[in-house]
Amino acid sequence: ESQDVPREEGLDHSVSLMREGYMYILNRRKSFQSNVFETRLLGQKAICMGGKNAAELFYDQEKFKRKGAAPKRVQETLFGKQGVQTLDDNQHLNRKEMFMSLMSEENTKKFIDIHRTDWKKAVEEWTGKDEIVFYEEAKKILCQTACKWAGVPLPDEELEKRTNELASLFETPALIGPEHWKGRHNRNILEAWMKELVEKVREGEWSPDPQTALYTMSWHKDVEGERLDPHTAAVEILNILRPITAIAIYMCFTVLALEQFPEEKGKLASEPTGQYLQWFVQEIRRFYPFFPFVTARVKKDFTWSNYDFEKDTLTLLDVYGTNHDPELWDNPELFHPERFKVEENSQKYQLIPQGGGSYVEGHRCPGEGITIEAMKVCADFLLNKITYQMPEQDLSYSLVSMPSKPKSGCKFTQIHWKQ
Ligand code: HEM
Repeated sequence: ESQDVPREEGLDHSVSLMREGYMYILNRRKSFQSNVFETRLLGQKAICMGGKNAAELFYDQEKFKRKGAAPKRVQETLFGKQGVQTLDDNQHLNRKEMFMSLMSEENTKKFIDIHRTDWKKAVEEWTGKDEIVFYEEAKKILCQTACKWAGVPLPDEELEKRTNELASLFETPALIGPEHWKGRHNRNILEAWMKELVEKVREGEWSPDPQTALYTMSWHKDVEGERLDPHTAAVEILNILRPITAIAIYMCFTVLALEQFPEEKGKLASEPTGQYLQWFVQEIRRFYPFFPFVTARVKKDFTWSNYDFEKDTLTLLDVYGTNHDPELWDNPELFHPERFKVEENSQKYQLIPQGGGSYVEGHRCPGEGITIEAMKVCADFLLNKITYQMPEQDLSYSLVSMPSKPKSGCKFTQIHWKQ
Protein backbone atom coordinates (compact mmCIF):
# COMPACT_ATOMS: atom_id res chain seq x y z
CA GLU A 1 0.00 0.00 0.00
CA SER A 2 1.19 3.48 -0.75
CA GLN A 3 1.45 5.60 2.36
CA ASP A 4 3.37 8.63 1.24
CA VAL A 5 1.49 9.57 -1.86
CA PRO A 6 -1.52 11.77 -1.16
CA ARG A 7 -4.86 11.00 -2.66
CA GLU A 8 -7.31 13.73 -3.57
CA GLU A 9 -10.69 12.71 -2.17
CA GLY A 10 -13.86 12.88 -4.22
CA LEU A 11 -15.54 11.22 -7.18
CA ASP A 12 -14.00 13.20 -9.99
CA HIS A 13 -11.90 16.34 -10.37
CA SER A 14 -12.25 17.04 -14.08
CA VAL A 15 -14.13 20.21 -13.17
CA SER A 16 -11.29 21.46 -10.97
CA LEU A 17 -8.90 20.69 -13.80
CA MET A 18 -10.97 22.81 -16.16
CA ARG A 19 -11.32 25.55 -13.54
CA GLU A 20 -7.68 25.70 -12.45
CA GLY A 21 -6.19 24.98 -15.86
CA TYR A 22 -2.43 25.28 -15.99
CA MET A 23 -2.21 25.52 -12.20
CA TYR A 24 -4.26 22.41 -11.35
CA ILE A 25 -1.34 20.03 -10.81
CA LEU A 26 1.11 22.56 -9.37
CA ASN A 27 -1.48 23.82 -6.87
CA ARG A 28 -1.90 20.30 -5.53
CA ARG A 29 1.79 19.46 -5.63
CA LYS A 30 2.26 22.48 -3.38
CA SER A 31 -0.64 21.85 -1.01
CA PHE A 32 0.08 18.10 -0.70
CA GLN A 33 3.84 18.78 -0.49
CA SER A 34 4.36 15.96 -2.93
CA ASN A 35 5.47 15.73 -6.54
CA VAL A 36 3.12 12.78 -7.08
CA PHE A 37 -0.51 12.52 -6.09
CA GLU A 38 -3.47 10.38 -6.97
CA THR A 39 -6.84 11.73 -8.04
CA ARG A 40 -9.77 10.94 -10.30
CA LEU A 41 -10.10 12.53 -13.73
CA LEU A 42 -12.39 11.77 -16.66
CA GLY A 43 -14.14 9.13 -14.57
CA GLN A 44 -11.03 7.13 -13.72
CA LYS A 45 -8.16 6.92 -11.29
CA ALA A 46 -5.33 9.17 -12.37
CA ILE A 47 -1.81 9.92 -11.21
CA CYS A 48 -0.48 13.46 -11.52
CA MET A 49 3.19 14.19 -11.19
CA GLY A 50 5.72 16.91 -11.88
CA GLY A 51 9.34 17.93 -11.46
CA LYS A 52 12.56 16.65 -12.93
CA ASN A 53 12.54 13.14 -11.41
CA ALA A 54 8.93 12.64 -12.35
CA ALA A 55 9.68 13.74 -15.91
CA GLU A 56 12.54 11.28 -16.14
CA LEU A 57 10.24 8.52 -14.92
CA PHE A 58 7.46 9.53 -17.29
CA TYR A 59 9.76 9.24 -20.31
CA ASP A 60 10.98 5.77 -19.33
CA GLN A 61 9.50 3.72 -22.20
CA GLU A 62 9.61 0.58 -20.05
CA LYS A 63 7.25 2.11 -17.53
CA PHE A 64 4.80 4.18 -19.57
CA LYS A 65 2.95 3.72 -22.83
CA ARG A 66 0.84 6.02 -24.98
CA LYS A 67 -1.76 3.60 -26.31
CA GLY A 68 -5.16 4.72 -25.02
CA ALA A 69 -3.70 7.67 -23.11
CA ALA A 70 -5.00 10.70 -24.98
CA PRO A 71 -8.52 11.80 -24.00
CA LYS A 72 -11.03 11.38 -26.80
CA ARG A 73 -11.65 15.10 -27.23
CA VAL A 74 -7.93 15.62 -27.79
CA GLN A 75 -7.72 12.80 -30.34
CA GLU A 76 -10.70 14.12 -32.23
CA THR A 77 -9.22 17.59 -32.61
CA LEU A 78 -5.54 18.05 -31.81
CA PHE A 79 -3.92 14.68 -32.57
CA GLY A 80 -6.06 12.58 -34.89
CA LYS A 81 -6.15 8.80 -34.74
CA GLN A 82 -3.27 6.38 -35.37
CA GLY A 83 -0.73 9.19 -35.25
CA VAL A 84 2.76 9.01 -33.76
CA GLN A 85 1.48 10.31 -30.41
CA THR A 86 -0.49 7.09 -29.84
CA LEU A 87 2.25 4.58 -30.74
CA ASP A 88 4.65 2.60 -28.56
CA ASP A 89 7.86 0.60 -28.93
CA ASN A 90 8.99 -0.37 -32.45
CA GLN A 91 6.02 1.18 -34.18
CA HIS A 92 6.71 4.46 -32.47
CA LEU A 93 10.41 4.29 -33.27
CA ASN A 94 9.69 3.64 -36.92
CA ARG A 95 7.23 6.54 -37.16
CA LYS A 96 9.35 8.90 -35.11
CA GLU A 97 12.38 8.32 -37.32
CA MET A 98 10.18 9.43 -40.20
CA PHE A 99 9.47 12.72 -38.40
CA MET A 100 13.07 13.27 -37.38
CA SER A 101 14.25 12.69 -40.97
CA LEU A 102 12.47 15.95 -41.82
CA MET A 103 14.36 17.91 -39.17
CA SER A 104 17.88 17.72 -40.62
CA GLU A 105 20.04 20.82 -40.50
CA GLU A 106 19.53 21.36 -44.22
CA ASN A 107 15.76 21.03 -44.01
CA THR A 108 15.66 23.33 -41.00
CA LYS A 109 17.57 25.92 -42.99
CA LYS A 110 15.07 25.55 -45.79
CA PHE A 111 12.28 26.14 -43.29
CA ILE A 112 13.93 29.33 -42.04
CA ASP A 113 14.41 30.66 -45.59
CA ILE A 114 10.80 30.03 -46.54
CA HIS A 115 9.61 31.55 -43.29
CA ARG A 116 11.65 34.74 -43.75
CA THR A 117 10.24 35.16 -47.24
CA ASP A 118 6.69 34.73 -45.96
CA TRP A 119 7.29 37.25 -43.17
CA LYS A 120 8.55 39.83 -45.67
CA LYS A 121 5.53 39.36 -47.87
CA ALA A 122 3.18 39.72 -44.91
CA VAL A 123 4.86 42.86 -43.60
CA GLU A 124 4.48 44.43 -47.06
CA GLU A 125 0.73 44.04 -46.62
CA TRP A 126 0.68 45.24 -43.01
CA THR A 127 2.37 48.52 -43.84
CA GLY A 128 -0.69 49.51 -45.88
CA LYS A 129 -3.15 48.78 -43.07
CA ASP A 130 -4.38 50.86 -40.11
CA GLU A 131 -4.40 47.94 -37.72
CA ILE A 132 -3.63 44.24 -37.68
CA VAL A 133 -4.27 41.53 -35.10
CA PHE A 134 -0.86 39.96 -34.89
CA TYR A 135 -2.07 36.51 -33.78
CA GLU A 136 -4.31 36.17 -36.84
CA GLU A 137 -1.55 37.35 -39.16
CA ALA A 138 1.12 35.13 -37.60
CA LYS A 139 -1.08 32.07 -38.05
CA LYS A 140 -1.42 32.86 -41.76
CA ILE A 141 2.32 33.37 -42.21
CA LEU A 142 3.02 30.09 -40.44
CA CYS A 143 0.35 28.16 -42.33
CA GLN A 144 1.84 29.37 -45.59
CA THR A 145 5.36 28.42 -44.52
CA ALA A 146 4.14 25.05 -43.24
CA CYS A 147 2.44 24.16 -46.52
CA LYS A 148 5.37 25.25 -48.68
CA TRP A 149 7.87 23.43 -46.49
CA ALA A 150 5.69 20.31 -46.41
CA GLY A 151 5.19 20.29 -50.20
CA VAL A 152 1.45 20.90 -49.89
CA PRO A 153 0.04 23.12 -52.65
CA LEU A 154 -1.96 26.04 -51.26
CA PRO A 155 -3.46 28.66 -53.59
CA ASP A 156 -3.42 32.19 -52.10
CA GLU A 157 -7.20 32.36 -52.04
CA GLU A 158 -7.35 29.30 -49.77
CA LEU A 159 -4.82 30.54 -47.24
CA GLU A 160 -7.31 32.06 -44.83
CA LYS A 161 -9.69 29.12 -44.91
CA ARG A 162 -6.95 26.53 -44.34
CA THR A 163 -5.34 28.66 -41.62
CA ASN A 164 -8.63 28.81 -39.73
CA GLU A 165 -9.25 25.10 -40.13
CA LEU A 166 -5.77 24.21 -38.86
CA ALA A 167 -5.98 26.70 -36.00
CA SER A 168 -9.27 25.26 -34.79
CA LEU A 169 -7.49 21.94 -34.19
CA PHE A 170 -5.39 23.49 -31.43
CA GLU A 171 -7.82 26.18 -30.32
CA THR A 172 -10.77 23.88 -29.57
CA PRO A 173 -9.63 20.71 -27.71
CA ALA A 174 -10.55 22.11 -24.27
CA LEU A 175 -13.68 24.00 -25.35
CA ILE A 176 -17.21 22.73 -24.89
CA GLY A 177 -20.24 22.53 -27.16
CA PRO A 178 -20.32 23.93 -30.71
CA GLU A 179 -16.90 25.56 -30.42
CA HIS A 180 -15.38 22.17 -29.72
CA TRP A 181 -17.34 20.48 -32.49
CA LYS A 182 -15.98 23.00 -34.97
CA GLY A 183 -12.53 21.53 -34.29
CA ARG A 184 -13.75 17.99 -34.90
CA HIS A 185 -15.51 19.04 -38.07
CA ASN A 186 -12.44 20.80 -39.40
CA ARG A 187 -10.27 17.79 -38.64
CA ASN A 188 -12.48 15.73 -40.95
CA ILE A 189 -12.19 18.36 -43.68
CA LEU A 190 -8.42 18.60 -43.36
CA GLU A 191 -7.91 14.84 -43.25
CA ALA A 192 -9.93 14.48 -46.45
CA TRP A 193 -7.81 17.19 -48.10
CA MET A 194 -4.56 15.47 -47.11
CA LYS A 195 -5.77 11.99 -48.00
CA GLU A 196 -6.58 13.11 -51.50
CA LEU A 197 -3.12 14.63 -51.86
CA VAL A 198 -1.41 11.46 -50.63
CA GLU A 199 -3.37 9.46 -53.19
CA LYS A 200 -2.36 11.91 -55.93
CA VAL A 201 1.28 11.54 -54.95
CA ARG A 202 1.02 7.76 -55.02
CA GLU A 203 -0.66 7.83 -58.41
CA GLY A 204 2.07 10.10 -59.77
CA GLU A 205 -0.25 13.05 -60.33
CA TRP A 206 1.65 15.28 -57.97
CA SER A 207 5.39 15.09 -57.27
CA PRO A 208 6.55 16.95 -54.21
CA ASP A 209 10.23 17.39 -53.42
CA PRO A 210 11.65 14.28 -51.67
CA GLN A 211 12.63 16.29 -48.56
CA THR A 212 9.05 17.32 -47.85
CA ALA A 213 6.58 15.88 -45.37
CA LEU A 214 4.06 15.16 -48.13
CA TYR A 215 6.57 13.02 -50.00
CA THR A 216 7.97 11.40 -46.87
CA MET A 217 4.60 10.48 -45.35
CA SER A 218 3.25 9.27 -48.71
CA TRP A 219 6.08 6.80 -49.26
CA HIS A 220 7.05 5.85 -45.69
CA LYS A 221 7.01 2.17 -44.80
CA ASP A 222 6.03 0.89 -41.36
CA VAL A 223 7.69 -1.94 -39.37
CA GLU A 224 5.98 -4.53 -41.54
CA GLY A 225 7.29 -2.86 -44.69
CA GLU A 226 3.82 -1.59 -45.61
CA ARG A 227 2.96 1.95 -46.66
CA LEU A 228 0.88 3.96 -44.22
CA ASP A 229 -2.79 3.81 -45.04
CA PRO A 230 -3.79 7.14 -46.63
CA HIS A 231 -5.72 8.23 -43.57
CA THR A 232 -2.75 7.72 -41.25
CA ALA A 233 -0.45 9.48 -43.71
CA ALA A 234 -2.95 12.38 -43.70
CA VAL A 235 -2.92 12.50 -39.90
CA GLU A 236 0.88 12.65 -39.89
CA ILE A 237 1.09 15.44 -42.47
CA LEU A 238 -1.36 17.38 -40.32
CA ASN A 239 1.01 16.64 -37.42
CA ILE A 240 3.39 18.94 -39.30
CA LEU A 241 1.00 21.63 -40.61
CA ARG A 242 -1.02 22.10 -37.40
CA PRO A 243 1.78 22.62 -34.87
CA ILE A 244 3.74 24.89 -37.19
CA THR A 245 0.63 27.10 -37.39
CA ALA A 246 0.43 26.94 -33.58
CA ILE A 247 3.82 28.62 -33.22
CA ALA A 248 1.70 31.79 -33.61
CA ILE A 249 0.91 31.42 -29.92
CA TYR A 250 4.59 31.62 -28.98
CA MET A 251 4.98 34.53 -31.38
CA CYS A 252 2.25 36.40 -29.50
CA PHE A 253 4.08 35.69 -26.27
CA THR A 254 7.24 37.02 -27.91
CA VAL A 255 5.40 40.27 -28.62
CA LEU A 256 4.11 40.30 -25.07
CA ALA A 257 7.53 39.66 -23.53
CA LEU A 258 8.92 42.68 -25.38
CA GLU A 259 6.01 44.77 -24.06
CA GLN A 260 6.12 43.47 -20.50
CA PHE A 261 9.88 43.52 -20.20
CA PRO A 262 11.08 46.39 -22.44
CA GLU A 263 14.60 46.18 -20.95
CA GLU A 264 14.97 42.95 -22.92
CA LYS A 265 15.10 44.97 -26.15
CA GLY A 266 18.35 46.61 -25.13
CA LYS A 267 19.87 43.34 -24.03
CA LEU A 268 18.92 41.70 -27.31
CA ALA A 269 20.32 44.61 -29.31
CA SER A 270 23.66 44.59 -27.52
CA GLU A 271 24.22 40.86 -28.05
CA PRO A 272 24.77 40.34 -31.77
CA THR A 273 26.08 36.78 -31.36
CA GLY A 274 22.60 35.41 -30.89
CA GLN A 275 23.43 33.87 -27.52
CA TYR A 276 21.06 36.14 -25.66
CA LEU A 277 18.33 35.62 -28.28
CA GLN A 278 18.58 31.88 -27.65
CA TRP A 279 18.12 32.42 -23.89
CA PHE A 280 15.28 34.88 -24.52
CA VAL A 281 13.38 32.37 -26.65
CA GLN A 282 13.99 29.57 -24.14
CA GLU A 283 12.68 31.79 -21.37
CA ILE A 284 9.52 32.55 -23.36
CA ARG A 285 8.93 28.84 -23.80
CA ARG A 286 9.53 28.23 -20.08
CA PHE A 287 7.63 31.20 -18.71
CA TYR A 288 4.41 31.41 -20.72
CA PRO A 289 1.72 28.72 -20.71
CA PHE A 290 1.14 26.46 -23.71
CA PHE A 291 0.75 22.72 -23.06
CA PRO A 292 -0.54 22.24 -19.51
CA PHE A 293 0.47 18.54 -19.25
CA VAL A 294 1.04 15.41 -21.30
CA THR A 295 -0.63 12.04 -20.75
CA ALA A 296 0.45 8.39 -20.74
CA ARG A 297 -0.63 5.11 -19.12
CA VAL A 298 1.34 2.86 -16.80
CA LYS A 299 2.81 0.07 -18.96
CA LYS A 300 3.36 -2.48 -16.19
CA ASP A 301 3.12 -2.50 -12.39
CA PHE A 302 6.04 -0.88 -10.59
CA THR A 303 6.81 1.02 -7.41
CA TRP A 304 8.34 4.47 -7.31
CA SER A 305 8.71 6.89 -4.45
CA ASN A 306 6.83 4.47 -2.19
CA TYR A 307 3.88 4.49 -4.54
CA ASP A 308 2.51 1.52 -6.49
CA PHE A 309 1.89 2.46 -10.10
CA GLU A 310 -0.77 0.08 -11.39
CA LYS A 311 -0.78 -1.07 -15.00
CA ASP A 312 -3.00 1.05 -17.27
CA THR A 313 -3.47 3.95 -14.83
CA LEU A 314 -3.81 7.30 -16.59
CA THR A 315 -0.81 9.50 -15.74
CA LEU A 316 -0.38 13.23 -16.28
CA LEU A 317 3.03 14.87 -16.36
CA ASP A 318 2.86 18.51 -15.28
CA VAL A 319 4.50 20.43 -18.12
CA TYR A 320 3.65 23.98 -17.06
CA GLY A 321 4.32 23.23 -13.39
CA THR A 322 7.71 21.67 -14.09
CA ASN A 323 8.71 24.79 -16.02
CA HIS A 324 7.62 26.82 -12.97
CA ASP A 325 8.87 24.43 -10.30
CA PRO A 326 10.46 26.36 -7.40
CA GLU A 327 12.66 23.32 -6.68
CA LEU A 328 14.19 23.59 -10.15
CA TRP A 329 14.16 27.29 -10.95
CA ASP A 330 15.29 30.33 -8.97
CA ASN A 331 12.36 32.71 -8.80
CA PRO A 332 10.33 30.82 -11.39
CA GLU A 333 7.87 33.72 -11.73
CA LEU A 334 10.64 36.08 -12.80
CA PHE A 335 11.25 36.50 -16.54
CA HIS A 336 14.99 36.10 -16.60
CA PRO A 337 16.65 34.80 -19.81
CA GLU A 338 20.12 34.82 -18.20
CA ARG A 339 19.06 31.84 -16.11
CA PHE A 340 20.02 29.76 -19.16
CA LYS A 341 23.66 30.76 -18.69
CA VAL A 342 23.59 27.85 -16.26
CA GLU A 343 23.55 24.93 -18.64
CA GLU A 344 21.72 22.53 -16.31
CA ASN A 345 18.66 24.67 -16.77
CA SER A 346 18.29 23.46 -20.34
CA GLN A 347 18.51 19.81 -19.38
CA LYS A 348 16.19 17.38 -21.02
CA TYR A 349 13.92 16.76 -18.04
CA GLN A 350 13.77 20.31 -16.70
CA LEU A 351 12.81 22.66 -19.53
CA ILE A 352 9.91 20.68 -20.97
CA PRO A 353 7.43 22.98 -22.75
CA GLN A 354 7.54 20.58 -25.71
CA GLY A 355 8.03 17.41 -23.71
CA GLY A 356 11.19 15.89 -22.25
CA GLY A 357 13.60 13.05 -22.82
CA SER A 358 14.76 11.87 -26.20
CA TYR A 359 13.45 12.79 -29.63
CA VAL A 360 13.76 9.45 -31.38
CA GLU A 361 13.13 6.89 -28.65
CA GLY A 362 10.68 9.03 -26.73
CA HIS A 363 7.74 11.29 -27.49
CA ARG A 364 9.55 14.60 -27.18
CA CYS A 365 8.33 17.11 -29.76
CA PRO A 366 10.23 16.70 -33.04
CA GLY A 367 9.36 20.29 -33.94
CA GLU A 368 11.24 21.89 -31.05
CA GLY A 369 14.14 23.01 -33.24
CA ILE A 370 12.01 24.68 -35.88
CA THR A 371 9.78 26.22 -33.22
CA ILE A 372 12.83 27.93 -31.75
CA GLU A 373 14.02 29.03 -35.20
CA ALA A 374 10.61 30.43 -36.14
CA MET A 375 10.51 32.39 -32.88
CA LYS A 376 13.93 33.81 -33.65
CA VAL A 377 12.80 34.93 -37.10
CA CYS A 378 9.80 36.57 -35.46
CA ALA A 379 11.94 38.31 -32.83
CA ASP A 380 14.29 39.56 -35.56
CA PHE A 381 11.41 41.14 -37.49
CA LEU A 382 9.87 42.70 -34.38
CA LEU A 383 13.17 44.10 -33.13
CA ASN A 384 15.21 44.86 -36.22
CA LYS A 385 13.04 44.96 -39.31
CA ILE A 386 9.84 46.78 -38.37
CA THR A 387 8.47 49.44 -36.07
CA TYR A 388 4.92 49.25 -34.70
CA GLN A 389 2.69 50.70 -32.02
CA MET A 390 0.44 48.76 -29.72
CA PRO A 391 -2.76 50.70 -28.99
CA GLU A 392 -4.52 50.25 -25.67
CA GLN A 393 -5.76 46.66 -25.47
CA ASP A 394 -6.16 43.71 -23.13
CA LEU A 395 -2.84 41.88 -23.22
CA SER A 396 -3.59 39.76 -20.18
CA TYR A 397 -3.56 36.00 -20.59
CA SER A 398 -5.48 33.39 -18.71
CA LEU A 399 -3.96 30.50 -16.78
CA VAL A 400 -7.22 28.67 -17.22
CA SER A 401 -8.22 28.65 -20.89
CA MET A 402 -6.11 26.23 -22.88
CA PRO A 403 -4.23 27.08 -24.96
CA SER A 404 -3.69 30.54 -23.53
CA LYS A 405 -2.61 33.69 -25.35
CA PRO A 406 -2.80 37.47 -24.87
CA LYS A 407 -6.54 38.22 -24.99
CA SER A 408 -6.45 40.96 -27.63
CA GLY A 409 -4.38 38.78 -29.95
CA CYS A 410 -1.83 41.68 -29.98
CA LYS A 411 -3.06 44.58 -32.09
CA PHE A 412 -0.47 46.56 -34.01
CA THR A 413 -0.88 49.99 -35.60
CA GLN A 414 1.51 52.26 -37.54
CA ILE A 415 3.57 49.43 -38.94
CA HIS A 416 6.61 50.53 -40.93
CA TRP A 417 9.78 48.96 -42.21
CA LYS A 418 12.77 50.13 -40.19
CA GLN A 419 15.09 52.41 -42.13
C1 HEM B 1 4.75 16.34 -29.49
C2 HEM B 1 4.54 20.86 -27.79
C3 HEM B 1 5.54 22.59 -32.18
C4 HEM B 1 5.20 18.11 -33.97
C5 HEM B 1 4.66 17.44 -28.67
C6 HEM B 1 4.43 17.34 -27.25
C7 HEM B 1 4.37 18.61 -26.78
C8 HEM B 1 4.57 19.49 -27.88
C9 HEM B 1 4.12 19.03 -25.33
C10 HEM B 1 4.17 16.05 -26.48
C11 HEM B 1 5.36 15.47 -25.81
C12 HEM B 1 4.98 14.16 -25.19
O1 HEM B 1 3.94 13.56 -25.54
O2 HEM B 1 5.69 13.66 -24.32
C13 HEM B 1 4.71 21.72 -28.86
C14 HEM B 1 4.63 23.15 -28.76
C15 HEM B 1 4.90 23.63 -30.00
C16 HEM B 1 5.16 22.51 -30.87
C17 HEM B 1 4.31 23.94 -27.52
C18 HEM B 1 4.90 25.08 -30.41
C19 HEM B 1 4.05 25.48 -31.30
C20 HEM B 1 5.65 21.52 -33.03
C21 HEM B 1 6.05 21.59 -34.40
C22 HEM B 1 5.95 20.33 -34.91
C23 HEM B 1 5.49 19.46 -33.85
C24 HEM B 1 6.48 22.87 -35.09
C25 HEM B 1 6.23 19.81 -36.29
C26 HEM B 1 6.71 20.49 -37.28
C27 HEM B 1 4.97 17.27 -32.92
C28 HEM B 1 4.75 15.83 -33.06
C29 HEM B 1 4.66 15.32 -31.76
C30 HEM B 1 4.79 16.46 -30.86
C31 HEM B 1 4.67 15.05 -34.35
C32 HEM B 1 4.44 13.86 -31.34
C33 HEM B 1 5.79 13.21 -31.03
C34 HEM B 1 5.69 11.80 -30.51
O3 HEM B 1 4.64 11.39 -30.03
O4 HEM B 1 6.71 11.08 -30.59
N1 HEM B 1 4.76 18.76 -29.03
N2 HEM B 1 5.02 21.36 -30.14
N3 HEM B 1 5.33 20.22 -32.73
N4 HEM B 1 4.98 17.61 -31.60
FE1 HEM B 1 5.12 19.45 -30.87
